[in-house]
Amino acid sequence: MLSSLALLSVVLPSALAATTYDMVKEYSGSTFFNDWNFYGQFDNLTNGDAIFVTSSVASSSKLAYVDSTTNRAIIKVDNTSTVAFNDKRNTVRISSKDEFDIGSVWIADMYHVPFGCSVWPAFWSQAPNWPSGGEIDTFEHWNLELHNQMTLHTEPGCTQASPVQTATVVNSTDCSFQDNSNAGCGVMDSTDSSYGAKFAAAQGGVFVTEMAESGISVWFFPRSSVPASLSSNASSFSTADLGTPTANWPTAGCAIDTYFKAQNLIFDITLCGDAAGAASVFQQTCSGVCYTDYVVGNGSVYDNAYFDVASVRVYSVTGMNTIVRVSSALGFRAGCWVWGAAALSGAVVLFAL
Ligand SMILES: *[C@@H]1O[C@H](CO)[C@@H](O)[C@H](O)[C@H]1NC(C)=O
Ligand SMILES: *[C@@H]1O[C@H](CO)[C@@H](O)[C@H](O)[C@H]1NC(C)=O
Ligand SMILES: *[C@@H]1O[C@H](CO)[C@@H](O)[C@H](O)[C@H]1NC(C)=O
Ligand SMILES: *[C@@H]1O[C@H](CO)[C@@H](O)[C@H](O)[C@H]1NC(C)=O
Ligand SMILES: *[C@@H]1O[C@H](CO)[C@@H](O)[C@H](O)[C@H]1NC(C)=O
Repeated sequence: MLSSLALLSVVLPSALAATTYDMVKEYSGSTFFNDWNFYGQFDNLTNGDAIFVTSSVASSSKLAYVDSTTNRAIIKVDNTSTVAFNDKRNTVRISSKDEFDIGSVWIADMYHVPFGCSVWPAFWSQAPNWPSGGEIDTFEHWNLELHNQMTLHTEPGCTQASPVQTATVVNSTDCSFQDNSNAGCGVMDSTDSSYGAKFAAAQGGVFVTEMAESGISVWFFPRSSVPASLSSNASSFSTADLGTPTANWPTAGCAIDTYFKAQNLIFDITLCGDAAGAASVFQQTCSGVCYTDYVVGNGSVYDNAYFDVASVRVYSVTGMNTIVRVSSALGFRAGCWVWGAAALSGAVVLFAL
């Protein structure tokens, strides 16, 4: 294993200099929900007033389903039940069964994202042993904020330095979970249609997240300006077609192969909780009390608290397969990425899958 790791460090820089990616996994249409785990219990992660339902409850109460008219996936907060004081409201958190290693891009095409007072949605990723292995928040904000926020969270030692990005608002450059109460190193998209009602009015758009050894980048394209190479459902694309990223964390300030490991993709919507529900944060865009005035009651305030997702596609650097499959039965992780790197070097190295 040590010798394969040494091999990786020699092989990867040239392999990742390639800017072409090939599709290796697609979540869409009637099979969208097949390869995700539903959290299946209350939010004990961010102290939200939310119960992340099981797959069967999500299906029977239509909190996670494929819309038969649009063929797109809906992931939503329960807006039909009356929640009594001291109870929590049903919502959804799903995490991909597969993990995707360095050398991956994931592209989410969405028509609507959740918003409204008390609503805290995210489309993001993290390694299983967080904070080891890092976290990439591609899409996140809360309440009635107007713009998307893109953030990394890591172990101490990773910072955003010399980014090449279109975002001009940099909230924090220290990615350490220990700094700033785990605010992470985040930047805000100044595009009005990157969140909330304006995102929906513009028919949403496409979020691209690249986790390369040279750096992590996020692009957001409103529907009207999605590059042709992404909108055509081509099985390959080049980052050369995407222009300057919206957010960028080069490896110079954050050694990606040190701070990041294979990621699970996650969609979740919580309510109130550590960020959205903190009084000082809540009152920036909403009035009243997060839990009692919104979560409690008939749920009519949650009519906009849903993701409408056309697809999530995952790509690997051409010539590699960055999917890491975790067998829940054996708890055994197979390193396809190692296989890909070995194959590129021309060495014949076989790992048991
Ligand atoms: C949340 O609950 C699950 C299941 O009880 C448990 O395995 C996990 O450790 C809990 N997480 C935290 C952060 O408490
Ligand atoms: C980032 O900074 C902008 C501008 O000051 C602010 O509007 C936004 O709420 C900040 N984001 C977070 C997550 O605090
Ligand atoms: C996109 O292309 C893949 C194969 O490249 C295919 O399996 C999938 O159904 C296509 N998706 C859509 C939405 O056309
Ligand atoms: C739900 O509650 C709100 C606030 O109390 C109220 O204005 C609304 O009429 C209720 N809707 C229904 C369908 O009962
Ligand atoms: C709940 O929200 C959906 C959209 O997510 C909307 O179509 C529906 O009318 C809302 N209200 C009820 C009572 O279902």
